[in-house]
Amino acid sequence: MGMNHALVTGASSGIGAATALRLAADGWNLVLTGRDRRRLEELADRTGGRAVAADLTDDDALRQVIDAGRGVDLLVHSAGIGWAGPFAEMEPDRIDRLVELNLTVPMRLTRALLPPRVAFVASVAVVGVRDEDVYAATKAGLRTFAASLRYRGITTTAVFPGAVRTPFFHGRTYDRRFPRMVEPERVADALVDAVLRGRAEVFVPRWLTVADRLHGALPATFHHLARRFG
Ligand SMILES: NC(=O)c1ccc[n+]([C@@H]2O[C@H](COP(=O)([O-])OP(=O)(O)OC[C@H]3O[C@@H](n4cnc5c(N)ncnc54)[C@H](OP(=O)(O)O)[C@@H]3O)[C@@H](O)[C@H]2O)c1
Repeated sequence: MGMNHALVTGASSGIGAATALRLAADGWNLVLTGRDRRRLEELADRTGGRAVAADLTDDDALRQVIDAGRGVDLLVHSAGIGWAGPFAEMEPDRIDRLVELNLTVPMRLTRALLPPRVAFVASVAVVGVRDEDVYAATKAGLRTFAASLRYRGITTTAVFPGAVRTPFFHGRTYDRRFPRMVEPERVADALVDAVLRGRAEVFVPRWLTVADRLHGALPATFHHLARRFG
């Protein structure tokens, strides 16, 4: 393997599936992983990729994914889960599962493959979100991990979507006025374009960069405004 070989996690759905389709259209050879074997194989048929069904939080399954991904030029981490609600009501094992899939797994997979390029699907939640304490923290962890890997000569891209129309919200309704929901293809295009340009960070939609800058420069003011306007 080598140039133009990519491994995509979370490829069975949403942003990961859209990213796989975009990469395939650009001529990439793909290893696709997710838990849902049927959806994964369907996507493998459409993209000419290789499907490796795996629960990434299972050590043996993770090893299979690592073996299938050896030598890839690009690793895309899209697999992730959310949880929303009052922090005090979050079961401790739920905390562990979120941190494991969203943060530990990308670290372990990156460590095992050390590809020249790595893309992370983080979230605009990195600025801190009411009732998404742990989820937001896992995504902020990914951002810092991506920035740190750059010192190793790995070209990383962190993508920060707002709300995206995928099964991620299954069972929950998205009721914020902004950011408006975008389609997963838009996130996939932003991700792949940023990877091709070697860009470190990209927000989708782009205007969310302003929220991040304000948060970085004036965290207390940001918090005040976010409380006030949701
Ligand atoms: N949707 C949004 O509004 C939004 C916004 C910002 C960031 N994000 C991030 O975008 C990423 C992709 O989410 P999405 O919106 O595309 O949601 P999605 O359609 O629910 O996709 C999530 C993917 O993660 C996989 N996955 C879940 N648990 C797994 C496990 N234990 N082992 C292996 N794979 C597992 C799922 O596989 P199966 O379906 O096969 O189980 C699926 O392919 C996530 O990291 C999410 O945090 C989403």
